[in-house]
Amino acid sequence: MKVGVPTEVKLDEYRVALTPAGVRELVDAGHQVFVQSGAGVGSSITDDAYAAQGATVLPDAGAVFGEAELIVKVKEPQPLEVSLLEPRHTLFTYLHLAADPELTHGLMASGATCIAYETVEDARGRLPLLAPMSEVAGKIATQAGAFMLEKPLGGRGILLGGVPGVAAANVMVIGGGVVGMQAAFIALGMEATVYVFDRNIDRLRELDIAFGGRADTCFASTLSIEERLPDMDLVIGAVLVHGARAPRVITRAQLGLMKPQAVLVDVSIDQGGCFETSRPTTHSDPTYEVDGITHYCVTNMPGAVPITSTYALTNATMPYVLHLASAGVRGAIAENPGLRLGVNVASGNVTYEPVAVATDVECVDVDVALAGVGV
Ligand SMILES: NC(=O)c1ccc[n+]([C@@H]2O[C@H](COP(=O)([O-])OP(=O)(O)OC[C@H]3O[C@@H](n4cnc5c(N)ncnc54)[C@H](O)[C@@H]3O)[C@@H](O)[C@H]2O)c1
Repeated sequence: MKVGVPTEVKLDEYRVALTPAGVRELVDAGHQVFVQSGAGVGSSITDDAYAAQGATVLPDAGAVFGEAELIVKVKEPQPLEVSLLEPRHTLFTYLHLAADPELTHGLMASGATCIAYETVEDARGRLPLLAPMSEVAGKIATQAGAFMLEKPLGGRGILLGGVPGVAAANVMVIGGGVVGMQAAFIALGMEATVYVFDRNIDRLRELDIAFGGRADTCFASTLSIEERLPDMDLVIGAVLVHGARAPRVITRAQLGLMKPQAVLVDVSIDQGGCFETSRPTTHSDPTYEVDGITHYCVTNMPGAVPITSTYALTNATMPYVLHLASAGVRGAIAENPGLRLGVNVASGNVTYEPVAVATDVECVDVDVALAGVGV
C-alpha cells in the first residue's frame, strides 16, 4: 500500500505521524511511504533521515495526498486537508468528532474512510492510541497549572509544593484515568496536596494503591466537588466518556466558590471541554479569565513537546499502521475488533455511535458503509 505522511498544519503542532523507524518497518513489509518535505522538522527529524529508510520525500501536501492511499496524521484534518481527501483515501489520525459537527460533515462529504486514534480500543476496552498522549498531557497539565499560578502570569501567586513552614497548594484532579493519574503523580512529585475525583470506584481503588496514601481519592459527585472547590488552587479536568462529548463537571456558577485567581486546566477540551466556561486555546495564547479564574484550555498539549510526543505516539500507532497497510481496512478490522471501533466515518456515513449521537446524524454499520468501498 502507498502510505502518506503530510506535515501537520494545526497551529503550534510540531509532531509527525511516522518516524524513520516506522518508514523502515513499512518499507521492509513491501509498502511505499511518501513523506512531505519538512514533516519531521518540528520533531528534529530531517527529510534525509526518512529518505535513508526508503521514504520518498514530496514537496507539498497535495503531492502526498495525490500519491497515498493511507494518510497517517496526528491532529484532525484542517480545512485544506479535508478538501484533499477523496473516497479512495483512508485517514488514520486523532479526530475528536463528537465535539466538531462541521468536521464530521466535511469528512462525510469527502467519502474517505476515517479512523480515529482516540476510539480504537484494546482487548481490555482501554484506549491504546489515546493513552500515550494522555500520559504526556497529564504531565503537562500540572506543569502548566503550576506556572499559571505564578502572580506575573495572573495566578494567585502560590508555589505548588510550598516550603518548610508554609503550606503547599491544593490540587483537584477530576477524572482519574490516564491523564488524571499522570497529572496527580506530577503534582505529588511537586509536593502539592492532591485530591483525585472519579466516578468509577474500581478506578479509585487502583489509584489508591498507586498513590500509596499520598493523594486522596474521592467519588465525584456535584456535591463532593462543590464542597472541595473553595480550597483549591489548581483544578485539572480530565474526564472522558469514550467517544462522547465531555461531561460538564464545573459550572459557571461554581466558579464563584473558588479563590480569586485560582487556575483551571481543561485537558478534556479536545472532547468539547468539561468546564462550562471552557473554550479552546492555543500554545501561543493558552489562557483567558472568566469571573477571576484563569482557564488553560489548549487542545493539543502534547504538541508542545514533540520530541517526546512523536515517539510516544508512533510507538503505539505503528503496529496499527502496518496492519492497515498490509491487510487493508476491511481485512484489518475483521482481524481486530478494537480497530473496528476506530472507524468513525466511511463512504459518507458516520459509523461510530457516540459521534452520531453528538452530531445528530444517523449511525450506519461499518460493514454496510464499507460494502462498496475498495479499502
Ligand atoms: N488537550 C489535550 O491536548 C489532550 C491530550 C490527551 C488527552 N486529552 C483528553 O483528556 C481526556 C482524558 O483522557 P484519558 O486518556 O485520561 O481518558 P481515560 O478514559 O483514561 O480517563 C477518563 C476518566 O474520567 C472518568 N470520568 C468519566 N466521567 C466522569 C465524571 N462525570 N466525573 C468524574 N470522572 C469521570 C472515567 O471514569 C475515567 O477514569 C480525554 O478527553 C482526552 O481526549 C486531551
